[in-house]
Amino acid sequence: MVFWRVRQRGLHPAKRFLRQILFPRTAGSFPSHGGRRPYMTLLRHAGRVQVVPKSVTLVFIWMRGDDHRRWEELDMATHREVILGQFSRQALPFSAAAMISDKGALNMIVDAVQPSPKDIVLDVACGPGLVVCAFAPYAGRVIGIDMTPAMLDRARLLAAEQGVRNVDWHQGDIYSLPYAAESFTTVVTRYSFHHLIDPAAALREMARVCAAKGRIVVVDAYAPEDYQQAAEFNRVERLRDPSHVRSLSLSALLDLFARVGLPEPRTTLYELRVEVRDLLARAFPNPGDEIEIVKTFRASAADGRLGIPVHLDGDNVHVTYRAAILTTQPVVKPVRGNI
Ligand SMILES: C[S@@+](CC[C@H](N)C(=O)[O-])C[C@H]1O[C@@H](n2cnc3c(N)ncnc32)[C@H](O)[C@@H]1O
Repeated sequence: MVFWRVRQRGLHPAKRFLRQILFPRTAGSFPSHGGRRPYMTLLRHAGRVQVVPKSVTLVFIWMRGDDHRRWEELDMATHREVILGQFSRQALPFSAAAMISDKGALNMIVDAVQPSPKDIVLDVACGPGLVVCAFAPYAGRVIGIDMTPAMLDRARLLAAEQGVRNVDWHQGDIYSLPYAAESFTTVVTRYSFHHLIDPAAALREMARVCAAKGRIVVVDAYAPEDYQQAAEFNRVERLRDPSHVRSLSLSALLDLFARVGLPEPRTTLYELRVEVRDLLARAFPNPGDEIEIVKTFRASAADGRLGIPVHLDGDNVHVTYRAAILTTQPVVKPVRGNI
């Protein structure tokens, strides 16, 4: 309850007036909704919204006259719950999906890095440990970190099945990795950035724990460059997997590296082909959304609205996702007194 208290003193008259119109019954405090924003709760109950656009958040912050940071932290906290909920359920079907465990796609990442026994590799948001186990035969040591315990259970099982011993599994958050600066020679993450509210902050954190002259590798499916197609692509992806935040376009992914102060990455592109029923078999959309998802994919086969190849074959809907492996080195920090 305390959290939702609105500062009365010093409130701008225009704000007070608008607030009285919009929230006539709250009389100085917002109702408690288990620590969540009331409008978020309403929208979530409507079954549609996982992440509210920043513009909406800012209007509400302005209306409440409240502290900006706390709202941002709440966004993150709510999203973490969604991630944990989805990936606890997805752990088994995700790790078994052909598109995810495809050896060819995994080998492309290993090839991009060319690891040696001297390498200490960190896989961030490692999920069921497929990337870790792909690196393990070539690197000295590989560590996988993820926030979802069920995913880490799958990873331990996979390592045991493959007889992989030079690996460790840690539970933790991509935004605050529990490692000292420059601890790893390679820091990799696959298919995680589209689940993040702040991928730039994650990339910055990956760069922090990566040694100078090490390698940073980001692998993700990317959205079309066209704004409308990208919006439709992300809408259907969020329907399919409510923990999806936003797939960036390839140019936006590249821009992320520049924003974080990393050199332009080397880029390898590949495609992932999948039938929509297989996609749905490992995701947990809100009940009823499957119909809209299939309808949108089918419509895109006719009019290209998703900006990715979609082909119909009788009852089957074949979709091709485009993915990129982006590899760079952290900028070598100048030694003090050398400039
Ligand atoms: C789509 S899975 C990808 C798993 C794995 N990287 C792979 O490619 O097989 C996304 C993973 O990101 C993890 N994740 C999402 N947000 C995270 C965060 N803030 N910190 C750590 N892990 C996170 C989820 O728990 C999930 O296991």
